[in-house]
Amino acid sequence: MKTAPGIWLVGAAGMLGRQLAGEFEKRELAYMASDREVDIRHSHELQDFASGRRIDWIVNCAAYTAVDRAEDEPELAKAINAGGVENLARLAAEREAKLIHFSTDYVFAGDREEPYREDDPPRPLSQYGWSKHQGELRLDACLKRYFLFRISWLYGVHGPNFVHTMLRVLREREQARVVNDQLGSPTYAAALAANIAGLIQSGSERCGIYHYCDGGVISWFDFAVAIQDLALKTGMIGKRIPIEAIPTAAYPTRAKRPLHAVLDCVKVKGELGFRVGGWRANLEDFFLEKARMEGCRP
Ligand SMILES: NC(=O)c1ccc[n+]([C@@H]2O[C@H](COP(=O)([O-])OP(=O)(O)OC[C@H]3O[C@@H](n4cnc5c(N)ncnc54)[C@H](OP(=O)(O)O)[C@@H]3O)[C@@H](O)[C@H]2O)c1
Repeated sequence: MKTAPGIWLVGAAGMLGRQLAGEFEKRELAYMASDREVDIRHSHELQDFASGRRIDWIVNCAAYTAVDRAEDEPELAKAINAGGVENLARLAAEREAKLIHFSTDYVFAGDREEPYREDDPPRPLSQYGWSKHQGELRLDACLKRYFLFRISWLYGVHGPNFVHTMLRVLREREQARVVNDQLGSPTYAAALAANIAGLIQSGSERCGIYHYCDGGVISWFDFAVAIQDLALKTGMIGKRIPIEAIPTAAYPTRAKRPLHAVLDCVKVKGELGFRVGGWRANLEDFFLEKARMEGCRP
């Protein structure tokens, strides 16, 4: 009889972690979960947690994700995004487990028109991007059986993200300004989580680096306009406000972002059979899910 795989979800309280937890539960996939209380920077904490447990898959959603703050605390970003990943990779190697890990489009400079493929050379512009790339390198140095997914513009029903920020702005302000010269593709966490859970259930050994995001290329401004349209349509906001398209130069941030970091998803579709939905259809799904969740509130 086939036994259920031992899955350890690390960073289970974050945006993607919560989404994955929900997906595992939906599929009745048993899993173990940890977040801050098992600090990935300290290998002894990881060893203590893993001791005596069957572990076939480690899914790492734990990360330092404060992109701008990382400019002021690069050592902390590196300790979590590089050191923590190395600790997990070493433990996975010891236990002969596979590790699923997530990285970012911010490892690329975003200074070209064509989408980035998995073997294009990274050149991060920020401390966050650099720390994530260091994590990629350490993962590769310590472990063979890993799946590394670079994703971009992650959003979902859990946790802070651009869509939630826009909804707040649309509710509270009389106008909004959003940059229109940074291009990319959103990643809807629910769609990603469904693909990841399917990957685990398939028992795939097609390890390696993969790019994954929703289909289509847009600017943050395009995204904001679509969010307003759908929020109005679903009754999540009551009025339309003007949204002004501005250049990045008019909205300075502490960390430099890539202007055109589009990920090429050909490999993940072909090799892993991942389903990649269009960004607008996925955003519609987000609003349906959000409405369902808010409707259920007591
Ligand atoms: N968000 C995006 O737009 C985006 C884009 C591309 C790639 N990614 C990548 O996707 C993955 C998931 O991102 P996310 O947005 O879901 O992240 P998130 O919401 O920030 O969740 C990360 C979780 O990890 C926890 N954590 C932080 N440091 C830890 C440590 N030392 N030990 C154990 N747990 C720790 C955090 O706890 P605290 O909240 O207490 O810190 C949080 O619960 C990350 O690898 C991220 O780099 C994200």
